[in-house]
Amino acid sequence: MKVLVVGSGGREHAIVATLLRSGRRPEVLCAPGNAGIGAEARLVEGSGDSPEGIESLLGLARDEGIDLTVVGPEAPLVLGIADRFAAAGLRVFGPSREAAALEGSKCRAKELLARHGIPTAPFRIFDDARPAMAHLERAAYPLVLKADGLAAGKGVIVARDRAEAAAGAEAILVERRFGDAGRRLLVEDFLPGSEVSLLVITDGEDFLPLETAQDYKQAFDGDEGPNTGGMGCYSPTIALEDPVIRDAVERIVRPTLAGLREEGVLFRGVLYCGLMLTAKGPQVLEFNVRLGDPETQAILVRLKTDLLEVFERAVEGRLRGVRLEWDRRHSVCVVATSGGYPGTHATGFPITGLEGVRTSAPDVRVFHAGTRRAPSGEVLTSGGRVLGVTALGATRAEARAKAYAALEGIRFEGMRYRQDIGAEARGSKPGP
Ligand code: AMP
Ligand code: GLY
Repeated sequence: MKVLVVGSGGREHAIVATLLRSGRRPEVLCAPGNAGIGAEARLVEGSGDSPEGIESLLGLARDEGIDLTVVGPEAPLVLGIADRFAAAGLRVFGPSREAAALEGSKCRAKELLARHGIPTAPFRIFDDARPAMAHLERAAYPLVLKADGLAAGKGVIVARDRAEAAAGAEAILVERRFGDAGRRLLVEDFLPGSEVSLLVITDGEDFLPLETAQDYKQAFDGDEGPNTGGMGCYSPTIALEDPVIRDAVERIVRPTLAGLREEGVLFRGVLYCGLMLTAKGPQVLEFNVRLGDPETQAILVRLKTDLLEVFERAVEGRLRGVRLEWDRRHSVCVVATSGGYPGTHATGFPITGLEGVRTSAPDVRVFHAGTRRAPSGEVLTSGGRVLGVTALGATRAEARAKAYAALEGIRFEGMRYRQDIGAEARGSKPGP
């Protein structure tokens, strides 16, 4: 069995490592991967971030006789990699282009929710600045503005007053700060509450919720500073059996998949629901159509079920009856970044201490993100988020202590990480 994983981050390293635990003993290839993935799987060139890239991955999958392709990031999915592979008779884990529009277009996601009466903040969509500004004049604050398309997590503005909203609308619609992602502007009510992410693996009909995880989006301790791709994570937060989760499954996950089916779209892959728990129940903030990063690192170290088997069944529409088994222990993943991230940062620095962690800390896994191997064999930094040091412990405090102890032994120039990952439980109760 030959599997190709597409992507190069910490999420993909965790996927590769988990697939390699399968009893089916797959041979795993990764395009393009990173230094950590390269130590476990065969790296191949390529990326799915353009139509040409997808064509060349397709050629590679054919030449290599790949049995299953697993797509990590959203960009190739939104571009239609799943459709292209399926049309060529190749199996791929990840939703079709039509289904991936749930992440690719926030407006389309909201319209789907509205058509099916699924709870989400009231909204308006504008493609022209003049009516948008008129609406912002009359609106109540705070208010949330979102660029329609993919904007690397940066296209959302929570405006406290009219002036901030007007500046945000100008930046999105007129200045096109997010490029074509800002051709349409979504304006929605601000929802007070606490956030939770609910991820499910689905074959379009049946679905398996993954254990919960809490991501830390801001760069600095205490949730200060700019937004990032994710500075760390812990799992679990709320038990899957908790009524809050059951409620979200029944009110959001099930009707969303059913609504898509009604409209002729079978969603196969991971549906990631960003939810706000409000006094009126869970409401959808956004959808992603893939696993989260770094949620995946914290979640998959706890998975006991054979992931390869689960992916295969999802692709074949055979998830019914499958149960996921979890390690009851807690996990904490702390992301080490290059100095300056998420702003400009230098890369190419040697990383030391990785071998020490591998040999002396059995409950710790270092997932690589922005790393590459130099011809000399040295591991060098090559991105903003560099490593995700992930530990298991009987309690969250124990997992946290192990992750931070391991980080003490790892060094690279400019290395920085948050000190407060998993320090206290995040709110999981509905807000006011
Ligand atoms: P999104 O990418 O749509 O999840 O938005 C990014 C972040 O903005 C979310 O994680 C929330 O913290 C915040 N946010 C988005 N929409 C709303 C909303 N309607 N009310 C309150 N906060 C929101
Ligand atoms: N950690 C947030 C995401 O993957 O979208």
